[in-house]
Amino acid sequence: MLQEKTIAVIKATIPVLEVHGEAITRRFYERLFEAHPELLNVFNINNQRQGRQQAALANAVYAAAVHIEKLDAIIPVVKQIGAKHRSLGVLPEHYPIVGEHLLGAMRDVLQESATDEIIAAWAEAYGIIAQAFIDVEKEMYEEAVKQPGGWEGLRSFRIARRVKESDVIDSFYLEPLDQKPIASYQPGQYLTLQLKAPGVDYAQMRHYSLSDSPNKSYYRISVKREDERDATPGGLISRYIHSLAVGDTVEVAAPAGEFIIEENNHPLTLLSGGVGMTPFMSYLNTAAERLSNRSIVWIHAALNGDVHAFADESNQLAQRLANLTKRVVYERPTARDEQEKRFDAKGYITADVLREAGFRPDGLFYICGPESFMRAMYRLLTQLGVKEKNISFEFFGPASSIEAQ
Ligand code: HEM
Repeated sequence: MLQEKTIAVIKATIPVLEVHGEAITRRFYERLFEAHPELLNVFNINNQRQGRQQAALANAVYAAAVHIEKLDAIIPVVKQIGAKHRSLGVLPEHYPIVGEHLLGAMRDVLQESATDEIIAAWAEAYGIIAQAFIDVEKEMYEEAVKQPGGWEGLRSFRIARRVKESDVIDSFYLEPLDQKPIASYQPGQYLTLQLKAPGVDYAQMRHYSLSDSPNKSYYRISVKREDERDATPGGLISRYIHSLAVGDTVEVAAPAGEFIIEENNHPLTLLSGGVGMTPFMSYLNTAAERLSNRSIVWIHAALNGDVHAFADESNQLAQRLANLTKRVVYERPTARDEQEKRFDAKGYITADVLREAGFRPDGLFYICGPESFMRAMYRLLTQLGVKEKNISFEFFGPASSIEAQ
């Protein structure tokens, strides 16, 4: 336990660190990768470039420090990050390395303001926070290995099938090369692939939601190809995956993730934008297999029919699930979409769209899609009186605060 005095130092310095948070974490990564270039194989270069990871780690350390007296309060967040760490192969021995460079970066940026007392207090606090992560992750590693078909680290899988789901999304069916059983998972969880794309110096880890029901001989992931658009560069890794063919192999970490869509009797509303429908495909396929009669509203938003994945599979699910109300909203439908009546509403998901589909403010809500979509949906739901505790969401990319902005 930290001493009163140490806690006082931590609390007094948090505002200063927040102001310099970005500079500190930028310096932290410079130092980290200079001393340990092998860690470039673990971190996501896109997130680095966009400064997203910098913000995520800094925010998490400061947020944990605020709760330093009762870390139990943030265990759910530690678990969510821990699941990601586990899928990436973050190990206990990495924590002192990160700690050393985080403290070193504090000294570099704050210079003489970072007194020995301040650094010592943060070193102690970091040690406690790191231990909370190490403990949670230890359990997760043990669980991943213990369950039937589970494994530690990476396992080789072969692309057994590839299916085009829309102009930009393809599904990849992955089977283990060793042909042994594979671990089950819960709808909403993701798979982590390690990919070595040409033109990228280091291997890259990427998470993809599992898009089919569990307990099959394969895993299905559905990947959007991020093409180059205007000033935005395309996704190197997503384009690399789209260049792979049946028979190619990829390295895979066991399923993970805390965005779990539980099966119970609460009315459920699923709101997806674009490729954010993938975890819901897993849930709905699972519900259909269980002959679930749960009341489910699923509203999917897409630009138009050309990029609307799983349209046929979704229609089949709607037939199999007696109490599923499915709505499709196209932002800018094509002439063909209009002709074939491929959507239910035009524009965005609004309060009217929700109400028409049978909005139940007392139910459970899951949101998945691009960040701007999730912010808009979160705002809409809270404005309509949905309690925050009943809203779950999954960021594709480093988690940031959805309440912000
Ligand atoms: C992701 C916090 C230690 C490697 C993250 C995220 C947070 C975080 C908040 C984003 C989670 C998300 O995207 O959902 C922390 C804290 C740490 C810590 C508070 C120390 C107490 C470590 C260590 C390593 C590590 C020791 C390994 C060297 C990563 C990687 C990611 C990540 C590779 C994935 C994101 C990316 O590549 O962009 N961490 N972390 N972290 N963390 Fe940590």
